[in-house]
Amino acid sequence: MNFKKGLAEVLYQALEGELASQNIEQLIEKPKNQDHGDLAFPCFSLAKLKRKAPNLIAQELSEKIQSPTFEKVEVVGAYLNVFLNKKLVAEHIINSIITEKGKYGAHDFGQGGNVTIDMSSPNIAKPFSMGHLRSTVIGNAIALIVEKCGYKPIKINHLGDWGTQFGKLISAYKRWGDEEKVKANPIKELLALYIKFHAEAETNPALEDEGRGWFKKLEDGDQEAHSLWQWFRDESLKEFSRIYQLMNVEFDSYAGEAFYNDKMDRVVQILEEKQLLVESDQAQVVELTEEELPPCLIKKSDGATLYATRDLAAAIYRKENYDFAQSLYVVGHEQSLHFKQLIAVLNKAGFEWADKMVHIPFGMMLKDGKKMSTRKGKVVLLEEVLNESITMARYNIEEKNPNLADKDGVAKQVGVGAVIFHDLKNNRMNDIEFSLEEMLRFEGETGPYVQYTFARASSILRKAGWKAESAPASVYQTTWENEWKVISMLMEFSSAIKRACENYDPSQIAKYIVDLAQVFNKYYAEVKVLEQSEEQSARLALVYSVTVVLKEGLRLLGIEAPEEM
Ligand code: ARG
Repeated sequence: MNFKKGLAEVLYQALEGELASQNIEQLIEKPKNQDHGDLAFPCFSLAKLKRKAPNLIAQELSEKIQSPTFEKVEVVGAYLNVFLNKKLVAEHIINSIITEKGKYGAHDFGQGGNVTIDMSSPNIAKPFSMGHLRSTVIGNAIALIVEKCGYKPIKINHLGDWGTQFGKLISAYKRWGDEEKVKANPIKELLALYIKFHAEAETNPALEDEGRGWFKKLEDGDQEAHSLWQWFRDESLKEFSRIYQLMNVEFDSYAGEAFYNDKMDRVVQILEEKQLLVESDQAQVVELTEEELPPCLIKKSDGATLYATRDLAAAIYRKENYDFAQSLYVVGHEQSLHFKQLIAVLNKAGFEWADKMVHIPFGMMLKDGKKMSTRKGKVVLLEEVLNESITMARYNIEEKNPNLADKDGVAKQVGVGAVIFHDLKNNRMNDIEFSLEEMLRFEGETGPYVQYTFARASSILRKAGWKAESAPASVYQTTWENEWKVISMLMEFSSAIKRACENYDPSQIAKYIVDLAQVFNKYYAEVKVLEQSEEQSARLALVYSVTVVLKEGLRLLGIEAPEEM
């Protein structure tokens, strides 16, 4: 039973189909102040349709709508405020959570459709950047959220493992490389070689040709070039895997740019057949004048393909291989133009599914207001950042709870959770200021705050020896005021999930669990749950419900919930 949907249906009947029930549902709000009811329907948008004052419409509707789930209906200005039948709602919500547990709040509108998610996608032989961290964290949360809505997520790591830079790297390695050094510290060493190559090339331009030559060999399948490339790739992946493991992120596919090498002739052929390829400055391009976009470069004058060509091949491959309902690309907003061009080219080529492709951009990670860059030696090693966060969390635990059993395990969950939550709590388009102190705070809108609230609620249940079986069938008490605030928050979970899914916006879940944690902490400060009383077992059922939803909310963001911390 979904009470918002219930109200939407009743309103739909009362409006005799004047507004689609889906639109009605979208308009229904949760009043900020509970004195104004549990659900509110603003009548402004109906005023135009009905050519009537919105407050009159609200009045009329209030007389028409009836349901056993409503306690009363009030009109305040243009708003129709609905007070729900608290007993019915409370019992329904708590019983659902007790029986459904982690499944509570789920939707099935995804209908099992595949959603490919291009995420993380770092460039091999280069440090894993903050942008890649953001893509990993946002992509992983979106995967969990779409899954909760009935889709099947397919996480693809579109590794940057092809391009002329690998020719340069091979050339640099052959000139100055040391196998042992690379093995000991692959990314750092390969990056140093790459930087040295560029520095030397400034005085020795012949190096550029040598680099291009090696890339040509690589593309032509030369054995030495290929095995060096393979080695660089393997070593880089080993390093990336450590970060993925720290963050508990797994991929369904590591098909990166190189994977599409043998699939690009077909792209070029398709574009030729559709007469979309034109020559411009000796290169082959697709003009996008009508779309008001710059031309998309497909093939360079020397026949080399480009990033965009590989993405075209990847898009087609994904459609053919996964028959996606949606194809998502979680990539920083600097690449917005690239994705616009990509979708436009596919549209022009007549692929109807191109409008199922969505670029999900995000803002930058800043340090002291400036972009955190990985170039010119100013490397921010992500693994170091994560480890530092874990160390700080470990230190906090030592201070607050020195007797905790698994301190290292919990420090990892808290330290990593803090970084993830900090990333996800704001609308993804915002730039974020990177601050470990801020992330690890136990108060305010932080991961540790939500985790701590979960651990606290769990400890109440432990102390009381509460078991789900001992939940009373009828939990609601007419005296429940503070409790009602918690219950009405619990009721909102599924709407938050739906909003997060529809807008590819994990911050909806992050904000929701912070709100729930706040409401719960306030409740717990006011009501002595552990005190013996007739209501105790009902109250514990409520506390249990809160733990289930906080844990599931954190899980949807890719964050673990330690029982104790
Ligand atoms: N490797 C690219 C970069 O680091 C991101 C790739 C994004 N995915 C894609 N299909 N283009 O900038």
